[in-house]
Order: sequence, then C-alpha cells, then structure tokens
Amino acid sequence: MDSVTSKWALATGASSGFGVEFATLLAQRGANLVLVARRKEPMERLAERLRRDYRIDVLVMSLELSSAGAASELKARIDANHIQIDVLVNNAGYGLYGEFLDQSAERLRDMLQVNIVAVTELTRLFGSEMANRGSGHILFIASLLAYQATPGYAAYAASKAYILLLGEALNTELNPRGVSATVLSPGPTSTSFAEVAGQKNTAVVRMLMMEPLRVARIGVESMLRHRSSVVAGPLNKMIVFWNRLTPRVLQRQIMQRVLSG
Ligand SMILES: NC(=O)c1ccc[n+]([C@@H]2O[C@H](COP(=O)([O-])OP(=O)(O)OC[C@H]3O[C@@H](n4cnc5c(N)ncnc54)[C@H](OP(=O)(O)O)[C@@H]3O)[C@@H](O)[C@H]2O)c1
Repeated sequence: MDSVTSKWALATGASSGFGVEFATLLAQRGANLVLVARRKEPMERLAERLRRDYRIDVLVMSLELSSAGAASELKARIDANHIQIDVLVNNAGYGLYGEFLDQSAERLRDMLQVNIVAVTELTRLFGSEMANRGSGHILFIASLLAYQATPGYAAYAASKAYILLLGEALNTELNPRGVSATVLSPGPTSTSFAEVAGQKNTAVVRMLMMEPLRVARIGVESMLRHRSSVVAGPLNKMIVFWNRLTPRVLQRQIMQRVLSG
C-alpha cells in the first residue's frame, strides 16, 4: 500500500460522517490535512484532536461548494498557503429524497453543483498538478444508488452514476500518469445522510446499514492500493452483482419498494 506520511490530503465534507473518518484514517497514516465544508466549528474540533493525537498539520477552510467557482476559490486559498495536495478525497455531497417534481429547481441545482460540478472541477484542478508531478491519489464517493435508476432519489442517484463513471474512466486515463483514481460506492451508512436527504430508514435499509469508519477504511485502503472501484460490504456487493442478472425495469421497481418501505 502507498504511504501518505507527510503528504497533504484535502478532504471535502469533513464536518461530519464519512469526512471525519477519512480525515482520521489519513491522519493516522501521517498525512497533513486540509478540511473543507460549510460548518467550521466541528472541523476546528476535529483539527484540534488530529493535531494533538497524530502531530500533523491541519488547516480548516469553510466553503459553500454549491457556489459557482467554489473549486477555483478553494484552489487559490490552498495555493496561498503554499500547500501541494497529494491526496484528494471528493467526499462532500448529499441527497434529496422525494418525488423529482416536488424538488425546487434551486435545491436540485445546488445539489448537482456540489455532487457533480465541484467534484469535477476540483479533480481537474488538483488532478492536473498531480499528473504533472507523476504522483497522487484521488478518491470519489459514489453510492450503491449509482448502479441503478432510483425513483425517490432520481437526480441524486443519477449524480452518483456520473461520479462512478467519471472516477472509473479517470482511473484508466490517469494511471499511466502516476495518479490513482478510486471510486468508493457505499450502501446505507449511519451518518446524517438520510436525515439531510429527508428519508426515513426502512427495515431493509436498516438491515444494510454499515458504520462509517468501516466504509471509510475500505475506501482509503482501496485508494492506496490503486483499485479503480469498490462497493463497500458483502451485502451491497451482492446487490450490485444481482443487478447484472436483473432487467433494469425490475431493478428500479425493487429499489423504490426498498426505500419507501
Ligand atoms: N451515508 C450514506 O448512506 C451514503 C451512502 C452512499 C453515499 N454517500 C455519500 O457519502 C458522502 C458523505 O456523506 P455522509 O454520509 O458522510 O453524510 P453527512 O454526514 O451528511 O456529510 C456530508 C458532508 O458534506 C458536506 N456538505 C454538504 N453540502 C455542502 C456544501 N454545499 N458545501 C460544502 N460542504 C457540503 C457537509 O458539511 P456542511 O454541512 O458543514 O457543509 C458534510 O461534511 C456524500 O457524497 C454522500 O452522497 C453516503
């Protein structure tokens, strides 16, 4: 597995859930960190703990990733600190649960800006520098929902299908240039995701539920082993495998039932 000791890692969505676990796992491996999300206070508390426990440098940058130009602004702030990013963890994101036509155009646009546009722009900005240096790691967070159309999460699932395809394609494009790109696809995980999305956890969702640390560890280890794509956990892997044998119309009917209870 590659080492990240003394390198700088940028983790978006570091104020809660997976982001906290990604930051902690990378800190344990000796990486310095730039933490990004909107809420500053939880990131400052995390930064304090990581500096104390692992003797690393941590910078906290509060940023609204749904704003146009957010990625360039973040890059400029990082450049102003003379920091070279060797690991990019594209983790910030959220879902909107409910009928597509009930979502406001503005909320949909903001979500796509965070889940798709910011990820694409950050990857281009930091990925080019990594490719020029001939080394680096990029981790993308897709979802189990990236593997089939999902009524109730129509736009969110489609945004994660974009991430899955972007990351897997970049694995092939960037590997020869020394940069690894890895897509982690988690199933339901106990973070604030469902609450933020406005989704109630059904019995099947509760059965699939994993702990964020376990999922994040799968992501970090897969990234440091240069894997292209990993679905977290045996049950989620089974669902993705089973999808290959199932007509697409059936996949989405089942997913709708699973989520609506
Ligand atoms: N948990 C699951 O079941 C699950 C399953 C599959 C995939 N995922 C994916 O995992 C990733 C992390 O989610 P999570 O489960 O850890 O949920 P979470 O606990 O709600 O964390 C989401 C993170 O994204 C940040 N974020 C959201 N909107 C933002 C914005 N406009 N600007 C900047 N930062 C923003 C949040 O920070 P602030 O609110 O402070 O800005 C927070 O740190 C997401 O991409 C999600 O789609 C989650």
